[in-house]
Amino acid sequence: MKWVYIEDIAAFKDLDVEVRGWVYGKRSSGKVRFLLIRDGTGILQATVFSGDENHPLFKAFDELTQESSLIVRGRVREDKRAPGGYELGLQDIEILQIAKDYPITPKEHTTPFLMEHRHLWLRSRKQHAVLQVRVEVIKAIRNFFDDRGFRLMDTPILTPSACEGTTTLFETKYFDQMAYLSQSGQLYNEATAAAFGKVYCFGPAFRAEKSKTRRHLIEFWMVEPEVAFATLEDTIELGQDLLMFIIERVLTKRRQDLEELERDPKPLEAITKPFPRITYDEIVPKLQEKGSAIQYGGDFGAPEESLISELSTNPVCITHFPAKIKAFYMQPDKDRPDLALGVDFMAPESYGEIIGGGQRIHDLNLLEQRIQEQHLPREAYEWYLDLRKYGSVPHAGFGLGVERTVSWMCRIKHIRETIPFPRLLYRIYP
Ligand code: 4AD
Ligand code: MG
Repeated sequence: MKWVYIEDIAAFKDLDVEVRGWVYGKRSSGKVRFLLIRDGTGILQATVFSGDENHPLFKAFDELTQESSLIVRGRVREDKRAPGGYELGLQDIEILQIAKDYPITPKEHTTPFLMEHRHLWLRSRKQHAVLQVRVEVIKAIRNFFDDRGFRLMDTPILTPSACEGTTTLFETKYFDQMAYLSQSGQLYNEATAAAFGKVYCFGPAFRAEKSKTRRHLIEFWMVEPEVAFATLEDTIELGQDLLMFIIERVLTKRRQDLEELERDPKPLEAITKPFPRITYDEIVPKLQEKGSAIQYGGDFGAPEESLISELSTNPVCITHFPAKIKAFYMQPDKDRPDLALGVDFMAPESYGEIIGGGQRIHDLNLLEQRIQEQHLPREAYEWYLDLRKYGSVPHAGFGLGVERTVSWMCRIKHIRETIPFPRLLYRIYP
């Protein structure tokens, strides 16, 4: 008999097939036994009907417990009442293992308990749905850039220098030197952009952030495009197009998962280009009027992010930040050199910053000056300065956080559920 996956079951209507999976649930009603089987791609109802209480399949059925592994065989039938519209008329149950006392039961569990059992929690319906959305978001990102001629460039994870400030660096020994886990592939991407024109890197980023919020992970995934000859304007345009593409993809391909998560799709469907734009100078007084305690020169916290998301049903692009609060590489505005040509995209529905980026300094002297001002060790950036010596051009790019995007798409409360094994301030297990 042919082994098939549940997501493909419709193609096997009225045929005999084999399904390999785990028991998700079971119930009986009179002469019928209902078995819910999950195989990773979906959940299938399998039934046995018999007037004989001693039917051998009833015996096997009675033995089965939640998460027992098994192979079942039977005929695929169309049935409107079954979840997914198809069910399996059971002919055979082959038990691989009986699972004893599976710790995650249909009753409510506390978050610490579930996090402790993350390796098993992944099998639950909602977790499964969130991670399916993650898979789609990643695929959409790859398709978006590949289809537009961007070259994927893998940047190193072990690095000799900081990209996003020295306070969140993870140190590790590198033989007789020190190395840091990458906070961002951007600096290397600036080099590959000069070699390939338009590039992107897609990898894990590490930040030793001592903040315990629902938006921060210690290890997260980021996609970072970088384009030679591009400006702040170009990068805003690219960020908008990318987000529109991701939203559209999730809405068409992962509707069922959004339903499973009880995520109302309307706010996502309502998003249109162009996104509203506002400068840092303009937004600070607006936030203060709305009761925020932010001072000019301060960064946005959770209360500000919520207030910003009240401004529009679209993501909001904030630009022209005080250079002082931004990274050393940011290009200053030509008329207002105290301002940096950076952009942060703030997601609607209070999901906060999902994209950070902007235009980079291309002038050698200015970059040298910034490295000095920020007390960065020049030796570690010599190669980066070379990029400003040999055919320097304006260039721009951004980073999009995968997990923040997935949180927003799924409208879930905490970012920890958007990655299979989250690394959090107080958790590195399992
Ligand atoms: O704004 P960030 O720090 O920008 C950079 O790293 C730039 N070098 C990117 C670039 O221009 N190539 O981070 C970019 C995005 C944020 O907007 C956010 O979505 C995500 O990365 N991010 C995090 N996601 C989860 N947990 C954290 N601790 C994050 N820190 C940043
Ligand atoms: Mg940022």
